[in-house]
Amino acid sequence: MVPDLKVLLFLSLHLLQEVKSSMVYVNNNGYEGVVIAINPSVPEDERLIQSIKEMVTQASTYLFEATKTRLYFRNVSILVPMTWKSKSEYLTPKRESYDKADVIVADPHLKYGDDPYTLQYGQCGDRGQYIHFTPNFLLADNLSIYGPRGRVFVHEWAHLRWGVFDEYNTDRPFYMSGKKTLEATRCSTGITGANVVHVCQRGSCMTRKCRRDSKTGLYEHKCTFIPDKSQTTSNSIMFMQNLSSVVEFCTENTHNREAPNLQNEVCNYKSTWDIISKSADFRSASPMTGTKEPPKPTFSLLKSKPRVVCLVLDKSGSMNQEDRLIRMNQAAELYLTQVVEKKSMVGLVTFNHNATIQNYLTKITDNSDYSRITANLPHEASGGTSICRGITAGFQAITFSDQSTSGSEIILLTDGEDSQISSCFEKVKHSGATIHTIALGPDAAQELEKLSTMTGGLRFYANKDMTGLIDAFSRISSTSGDLSQQALQVWLESKTLNISRGEQISGTVLVDSTIGNDTFFVVTWTAQKPEINLQDPKGRKYTTSDFKNNTLNIRYARLQIPGTAETGTWTYTLSNKNGNSQLLTVTVTTRARSPTMPPVIATAHMSRNTAQYPSPMIVYARVSQGFLPVLGANVTAVIEAEDGHRVTMELWDNGAGADTVKNDGIYTRYFTDYRENGRHSLKVYVQARRNTARLSLRQRNKSLYIPGYIVSGKIIMNPPRPEIQVEATMEDFSRLTSGGSFTVSGAPPGGNHAHVFPPSKVTDLEVELKEDHLHLTWTAPGNVLDKGRAHKYIIRMSQHFRDLQEDFNNNTLVNTSGLIPKEAGSKENFEFKPQTLKLENNTMFYVGIQAINDANLPSEISNIAQAVKFIPSKTDISALGSNISAISLTIWGLTVIFNYILN
Ligand SMILES: *[C@@H]1O[C@H](CO)[C@@H](O)[C@H](O)[C@H]1NC(C)=O
Ligand SMILES: *[C@@H]1O[C@H](CO)[C@@H](O)[C@H](O)[C@H]1NC(C)=O
Ligand SMILES: *[C@@H]1O[C@H](CO)[C@@H](O)[C@H](O)[C@H]1NC(C)=O
Ligand SMILES: *[C@@H]1O[C@H](CO)[C@@H](O)[C@H](O)[C@H]1NC(C)=O
Ligand SMILES: *[C@@H]1O[C@H](CO)[C@@H](O)[C@H](O)[C@H]1NC(C)=O
Ligand SMILES: *[C@@H]1O[C@H](CO)[C@@H](O)[C@H](O)[C@H]1NC(C)=O
Ligand SMILES: *[C@@H]1O[C@H](CO)[C@@H](O)[C@H](O)[C@H]1NC(C)=O
Ligand SMILES: *[C@@H]1O[C@H](CO)[C@@H](O)[C@H](O)[C@H]1NC(C)=O
Repeated sequence: MVPDLKVLLFLSLHLLQEVKSSMVYVNNNGYEGVVIAINPSVPEDERLIQSIKEMVTQASTYLFEATKTRLYFRNVSILVPMTWKSKSEYLTPKRESYDKADVIVADPHLKYGDDPYTLQYGQCGDRGQYIHFTPNFLLADNLSIYGPRGRVFVHEWAHLRWGVFDEYNTDRPFYMSGKKTLEATRCSTGITGANVVHVCQRGSCMTRKCRRDSKTGLYEHKCTFIPDKSQTTSNSIMFMQNLSSVVEFCTENTHNREAPNLQNEVCNYKSTWDIISKSADFRSASPMTGTKEPPKPTFSLLKSKPRVVCLVLDKSGSMNQEDRLIRMNQAAELYLTQVVEKKSMVGLVTFNHNATIQNYLTKITDNSDYSRITANLPHEASGGTSICRGITAGFQAITFSDQSTSGSEIILLTDGEDSQISSCFEKVKHSGATIHTIALGPDAAQELEKLSTMTGGLRFYANKDMTGLIDAFSRISSTSGDLSQQALQVWLESKTLNISRGEQISGTVLVDSTIGNDTFFVVTWTAQKPEINLQDPKGRKYTTSDFKNNTLNIRYARLQIPGTAETGTWTYTLSNKNGNSQLLTVTVTTRARSPTMPPVIATAHMSRNTAQYPSPMIVYARVSQGFLPVLGANVTAVIEAEDGHRVTMELWDNGAGADTVKNDGIYTRYFTDYRENGRHSLKVYVQARRNTARLSLRQRNKSLYIPGYIVSGKIIMNPPRPEIQVEATMEDFSRLTSGGSFTVSGAPPGGNHAHVFPPSKVTDLEVELKEDHLHLTWTAPGNVLDKGRAHKYIIRMSQHFRDLQEDFNNNTLVNTSGLIPKEAGSKENFEFKPQTLKLENNTMFYVGIQAINDANLPSEISNIAQAVKFIPSKTDISALGSNISAISLTIWGLTVIFNYILN
């Protein structure tokens, strides 16, 4: 049973469709459909385009060599923003958009240097989200720091496309090898260089040998590895692609398993080539023979244009059930008035077995524009469902208004079954339009989501959740990269407990200083408008009559806060005036306050769109401000199944379980509570209260900033990395986002599957020597992956890394009888005295841990942690206690070129 499960887990993680709707594909060894998008805030600069072209052209040759003539870049689209001047050579984008781009060129709002990086937070082999280059990186000459830009691009492409990780580790730059030598964390070990401390003070610099830290036995904190400029080794690109000899990835033969880097941790000690060669790209590309150089890439320049959206809404008979028509109209009204960006062109189609164009495209500039559309929302529902007629009419509404379907978007909402849906798949494919689908209720056509998958659109599902449609529409916001245009949902309260006569609900809404323009408070009800009281942070009051009724009687009232909403805590109270109980909801949406300060945003998704039981899914939520991760937020996911059953769970950014990296602003958790098949929806609430949130200025998965080189025995340093703050404090905020929908199949009825999932793997085991005791710390896994409490731990140790890693069960068992597992996510501490080994200078210990759950299912073996005993000799101690040698050396350090004085 257990091995089968592992196979299943592996398959599920690597073979099923991925969520990010990148349009890149491999065709006869060439990548096509690559999109590089420039952010609207980047000033117009022709040189950027030139630099991108040169980078990709160079990268293509390097990629071809690195993949052993399998892959190169055939064509790439460069998407310039609307803010740039029009040119005849600019084409109109089809489905290419900023938010789906593979590469983004933008300036971060806070400077953290120009390190190129990839937003990649999945498991080993999972695709990343995008590569980020700054304009400065593309324009400046920083060759000696990152290496040629084409090589940097290939390093990042490997992160993005094949889900491999860096082979250096700035947190753990050194380790003790099995041969008892201190080594820089790297791949391969064939890369030569020196470990030195280079310090500059008041204009004078000096270089000296690294000393060992008596606590860790490793090199001191300031020690850095400086590579020789000239090398003979050809790998690896995930370590130092800037070295001219490096043209390969580490393979099974050259891979350094001992290095404590993310590649080993996340990919279970496998080499980067091992992972890359198993990727889908490789499976579809055999080596090209008889050619050394790939054909040159071709480039298309595209310029973004204002959004063209057509709502295609279902008014079939079944929409009469469960207030569906009303809920749809509420959500559509909210979309038109509060979400869609100004200057967008919007049309409306309603359909049942037949379709009607209610509004041709109208440019949304002021209130009268959207009210012309909302007036045509359907009052009545009847008839059958023909989704294809609806879509066809949507296309007509767009083309009649002199717009091309190519590059347009359709928001399709339906609750009905329709077996004919595939009859328009071809038409949809060729239209160039993106279709976002919203399935309402349990009977919506099974193939509906194919329309989203095919076109790169979003997919949503709403059923019992009365605000599910509002959440879905709120999420279909700007795709242009202009964050000041994007609508944000900051609050949602829906009291599902019905409120009987006279009772009231009240709550507070936090408006932080990054938001406040276009702020709307929306109240919905099911029987009668409640009495509404709202107070802003300055004490200004708004009452029921300020909340404008909707003329369609869709049980919906809205208040637009004039100007910019006050920063601080808003308080509302809703009092039920109705004789019977009813459901009341409050939703608040807003936009950025300042065009230059990006607002905090949250986005969420599942690891895949379809789950085949028993493979676990992972919930991902990303909280960020601009490009920077937001840490310390309270992030809660709510997953609702078709029967309305909800699973609520807190998501963690603790580097344990499903969370690949701690403190990267990505909050995750496994989802295993399968109770039934069919569609599920994901909603995520993010809150920062009591000043717990921090902004991190650190990016992961980047190209290494090379400190310097050794050239013919001399150290030549690069300019020092700009000192940056690591974290900044943040004010409190709240956000809400829909994470779309996913579909489950094969689940056992009633959720009866307690014994299928083992505890999750421990990924953050650390061991430290304290006197003659080994002190272990790690984050507790659960009984079922990262939930609950494991039954027991098995800890084994060895003096040899390989023994433990390859044959865990054949190593010394540590007595853990006193160790009772804590609840998942807790910090575990355990200390023991190794009995069997003699503690001498340079003695090494390797430790691994395994958790067992109450069904006796074992987790995978943890990362292997290392501790080194170091006994400083008398001379070591005197060196540490004196600065004489250091002072005498400072005389040398007036330039950045040093004699290489170390042996
Ligand atoms: C990419 O190149 C191929 C072959 O040259 C061509 O058929 C295809 O249309 C191109 N695609 C784009 C998006 O330019
Ligand atoms: C890259 O070079 C430019 C100018 O040549 C310089 O302003 C910038 O600071 C450099 N970037 C880094 C990361 O050193
Ligand atoms: C569909 O609507 C069109 C015009 O609105 C009408 O001519 C046609 O008869 C309708 N078809 C059906 C099947 O109701
Ligand atoms: C708004 O609607 C409520 C009931 O739905 C009604 O009592 C109230 O008079 C209406 N207000 C206005 C200004 O139309
Ligand atoms: C928000 O509104 C203020 C005042 O109307 C305006 O100055 C500012 O530019 C607006 N912010 C954005 C992001 O549009
Ligand atoms: C996080 O937020 C949820 C509600 O969104 C709340 O129930 C929970 O207590 C909060 N947790 C912490 C640690 O503040
Ligand atoms: C366990 O280790 C011993 C000695 O290290 C070795 O002889 C034996 O073959 C190993 N057993 C297994 C099952 O690998
Ligand atoms: C322990 O070993 C290190 C080198 O591996 C050496 O520098 C140190 O002097 C040794 N300590 C003693 C007490 O011999």
